[in-house]
Amino acid sequence: MSELNSIAIKIISSGKGILAADESTATMTKRLESVNVVSNTESRLKFRNILFSADAMKVCVGGVILYDETIKQTINSTLISKIISSSDVVPGIKVDTGAKILSSSTEEKITEGLDGLRERLKDYYKLGARFTKWRAVYKISNSFPSKVAISTNSHALARYASLVQEAGMVPVVEPEVLMDGNHDSKECYQKTSEVIKKCFEELILQKVDLKGVILKPNMILPGTKSKEEIDPEQISELTIKCLIESVPKEVPGIAFLSGGQSEFQATENLNMINLKNNSNFTMTYSYGRALQQSALKYWANNQDDIIGTQEVFNHRAKMCTLAAKGQWKKELEKN
Ligand code: G3H
Repeated sequence: MSELNSIAIKIISSGKGILAADESTATMTKRLESVNVVSNTESRLKFRNILFSADAMKVCVGGVILYDETIKQTINSTLISKIISSSDVVPGIKVDTGAKILSSSTEEKITEGLDGLRERLKDYYKLGARFTKWRAVYKISNSFPSKVAISTNSHALARYASLVQEAGMVPVVEPEVLMDGNHDSKECYQKTSEVIKKCFEELILQKVDLKGVILKPNMILPGTKSKEEIDPEQISELTIKCLIESVPKEVPGIAFLSGGQSEFQATENLNMINLKNNSNFTMTYSYGRALQQSALKYWANNQDDIIGTQEVFNHRAKMCTLAAKGQWKKELEKN
């Protein structure tokens, strides 16, 4: 078990964070088409490999979450996971198969993928993965998340985490409370606390070793349609309070999702969280959009400019890593 703890620490320490490049083919297609790039096996690999071979991988990134398609791909007969680990970065893999409508609900979702997971994990391990991700997703409304959504998703997260540790990998446990809606930050705080507490109740019940787990939560934010005005200081105070109250001390670290925040907001908020962090938890990033957006836009318009695209990505990753150390400053964004 101490090996799992060392992997977790390697991924998230010294300001390093996670590049979440695990968009499903459908999501990646949306992202590429939004910048007028045709999505196919080649274009998806091409863009992702530009990031995987950027300098930031060596200094800022501790882990990369891949999608099933990518972990099986090669460049000049070299597996993508080998390219990633050659920068001393830990390759990871998304292992859930997506969120589907809960049978007892019309709107809430349950994340699937437990059937056959033990066998798939063995294959992913052979392909080089040493950590994994599973995302449960919750909406906020007057009646959501419901007890049934929280209970079924927490149970599935714990079953997933237990199987992953059995296979010798670190589970990233992601109970995401979405930003969509008109709820205020207080409601986000209450619902996020409930969801995280239940998640750890199940993890403990199913004997998951908490020292070999990384939590990937949302920050505490008002909904995207809320009129509440809130600054990074308040966001960081609520987020830290929520995590101190809900996460057992054994957990080595927390890697936030960006969840639709802009690159700037996700960086500014992470920085303030680290300036105010009075817990023992390492607090870093596991960003998808907030690490890739600018690089994708640049690449879409300059597809032959690999170095230029990497520079855009390097800058973003550097900003996030400074934020993970509480050393980021607005002025640095101008460079
Ligand atoms: O599961 C969510 C992704 O890994 C993180 O994506 O940072 O764009 O929310 P995001």
